[in-house]
Amino acid sequence: MVGLFQAYPYPSCSWDIIARYGATNPDLPLAFFSDWARVALDESKHFTLLTKRLAEISPSTPYGSLSVNAGLWESARGTFHSLRSRLAIIHLVHEARGLDVNPATVEKFRRTGDQDTVEILQIIHTDEVTHVTAGHRWFSWLCKNEGVDPIQTFREEVRRGWRGDIRGPFNDDDRAKAGMTKDFYTDLKGEMGDASSVAIGYEQAGP
Ligand SMILES: [Fe+2]
Repeated sequence: MVGLFQAYPYPSCSWDIIARYGATNPDLPLAFFSDWARVALDESKHFTLLTKRLAEISPSTPYGSLSVNAGLWESARGTFHSLRSRLAIIHLVHEARGLDVNPATVEKFRRTGDQDTVEILQIIHTDEVTHVTAGHRWFSWLCKNEGVDPIQTFREEVRRGWRGDIRGPFNDDDRAKAGMTKDFYTDLKGEMGDASSVAIGYEQAGP
């Protein structure tokens, strides 16, 4: 279970969206930058909570000592070319998947009686709903600016930038709180070819 604490690249992803796309999208309002700065600070808080807890429950496996799935970084590299693609794949696929898996992870720790970890994961989950909300907000803003439909455009981005099914079970309630209604993700499959050097997959743990 300590493997769940071993991959946490989300703080860097949040600063990256500001640094990488800010200069090339001069129409972005100030609220875009304040939203992602807030998300980055949340993610830094999560990283601190998780690494501190990991040191307490498993001092023999400090952060970085186990190998992990690199799907998030690979998706980050695969979306360098487009803010719209970055928002769709990182924030509305990977982060939204976190909303699906976090409640089961909380339940596993609750069953072991580890209330301290349960409380940390619940803080993270509550924050993560707001992160997917930010992803949805700015994806919708871009689509409106470009005069395209957000649901159809999201589905096209996923077909282009993801390999395999967008799989459930889904946490429909928390996804809906973030604006991700079922028509965004139901029966959706990525069609990115195997020829790509970018191997995409979900992280083992949610953000
Ligand atoms: Fe997040």
